[in-house]
Amino acid sequence: MIDLDQLRTEALAQIAAAPDDAALAALRVKLLGRKSELTAALRGLGALPKEERGPRGKHTNEVKQAVEQALEQRASELAQLAESDLGKREWLDLSLPAPTTPRGHLHPITQIEDELDDLFRGMGYRVVEGPWIEDEFHNFDALNIPDWHPTREDWDTFWLTDGNLMRTHTSPSQIRAMRRFGAPLRAVLPGRCFRNEAVDATHEAVFNQIEGLVIDRDIRPGHLFHTINAILSVIVGPGVETRFRPGYFPFTEPSFECDVKRPDGSWMELCGMGMVHPHVLRAGGLDPAEWTGFAFGLGIDRLAMTRFGIEDIRWMNSGDLRFLEQF
Ligand code: FA5
Repeated sequence: MIDLDQLRTEALAQIAAAPDDAALAALRVKLLGRKSELTAALRGLGALPKEERGPRGKHTNEVKQAVEQALEQRASELAQLAESDLGKREWLDLSLPAPTTPRGHLHPITQIEDELDDLFRGMGYRVVEGPWIEDEFHNFDALNIPDWHPTREDWDTFWLTDGNLMRTHTSPSQIRAMRRFGAPLRAVLPGRCFRNEAVDATHEAVFNQIEGLVIDRDIRPGHLFHTINAILSVIVGPGVETRFRPGYFPFTEPSFECDVKRPDGSWMELCGMGMVHPHVLRAGGLDPAEWTGFAFGLGIDRLAMTRFGIEDIRWMNSGDLRFLEQF
């Protein structure tokens, strides 16, 4: 009986060394053809005692598969080699420019995120990321949203089977930051958010926010408006037009929304914000008699849309190179 393991070792070595397609085709016939040792081994199975047939058959088939796989792999290696310049040439001209590898670049959202990081770090903020999977306490309760509160219905939440959830916004990271760093505090907390949204040109189910949180003594809305305008004038450009209007969030009081003017002249909601609610300061372990603060949650995808003049948010996650190559 032939030694299957030895056969496999030798066959794989021969295949790996096959210099071209013709050699590979010849090897295929030799190793798997009608007159090959493997075919003979398979045919011979019937003659074996019953109890040996199963294991020997399995072993033979494994070797056959390994050989088939190795043949395929070598074929694709040879094809690649034939495509590359170096494979075709017999000698190497070192005076020629080196072959270049096409390089990708950062996604527009990552570009904006990196710029925001730099900008906020320059203003003395720390940049911290919170978890995407949150618990009910951080996403809702600690933000002054008890379970009977209608705001819970505002965000269609992806609940997990263990009772946790995919965070609907970056605000839960406010609580984590206050508890971890205490006051005074300047932090931004960027990252992904998840909502079971009816997706349209400005709403995605997976999108990105950057949460801002400043806690200090005597913080007022003016600090907040100035910060937002300062950031937008750098990221979008000095001519950016913003509009602040009253809003409602249970975790800020008073609350505001900021809209930004798009290149086509329409307004788009960009950011929710307000003065941190005393209940939230308390949930973060801070005394509202001593500390005040502002917070905002800004949509990074929409910011990128404004900056680059992208009309539909669905391009962002499309993976479409015609879109991505423009940035
Ligand atoms: C919030 O998520 C609040 N957590 C914001 C906040 C933070 C308020 C801190 C007060 C203090 P809102 O649901 O409005 O609020 O979302 C904020 C921003 O995230 C929106 O203005 C928008 O720019 C972006 N956003 C929200 N939902 C989507 C979505 N489905 N697709 C893309 N961007 C979204």
